[in-house]
Amino acid sequence: MGRFSSSIPEAGKSLTAANLAIAMAQSGTSTLLVDADLRRPTIHQLFGLTTRVGLTSALTRMDDWSSMLSAGPVENLTIMPSGPLPPNPSELLSSAAMRRLIALTADRYDMVILDTPPVVAFTDGVALSQAVDGTLLVVRANFASRKVDIKAKELLVQVHARILGIVFNGLPADDAAMASYYYGYGEHP
Ligand SMILES: Nc1ncnc2c1ncn2[C@@H]1O[C@H](COP(=O)(O)OP(=O)(O)O)[C@@H](O)[C@H]1O
Ligand SMILES: [Mg+2]
Repeated sequence: MGRFSSSIPEAGKSLTAANLAIAMAQSGTSTLLVDADLRRPTIHQLFGLTTRVGLTSALTRMDDWSSMLSAGPVENLTIMPSGPLPPNPSELLSSAAMRRLIALTADRYDMVILDTPPVVAFTDGVALSQAVDGTLLVVRANFASRKVDIKAKELLVQVHARILGIVFNGLPADDAAMASYYYGYGEHP
């Protein structure tokens, strides 16, 4: 089970999470993609769903969590949209109910992927990092400053999140200058 984070909005977390979920499902892994960005949810849009029911409804009606799911466009892929947006996303995502829901979904699916808000802006993602097996940090080339990306990593390290890796989104394949900007120093994020 993993979750996606980035230092900033628009880095490509949701797109990357959706793509990974599709790829995992296509490789035969039963996969659940959960929209845990309760501030700016977009997973429902990517899959032509609504936020009428989803994560927030599952958290308030835990016995019924499996009725908050929609079939994805490929076999083995299930989607849990955000559900109606709550006034207190940080509180909900760090609740005991959220941890319990994560455990229930992890029992049912081989892979559970949580799409989350940016770590630097909100504490939601940082709290969730402690409830999952690992975190992938999405960094979009030419977008945030390196400083902000390093801050995101530091916030995750502080809470002992297990960082599985960093996804560089939108890095031009032949952009040597950009590559050296990110990789040319000893302490890159
Ligand atoms: N590599 C890319 N090239 C072009 N557009 C991108 C790329 N990655 C993301 N986008 C676009 O940027 C916007 C933000 O992506 P999204 O995945 O919603 O980011 P986040 O979830 O981090 O806010 C979307 O419109 C998405 O289609
Ligand atoms: Mg997003």
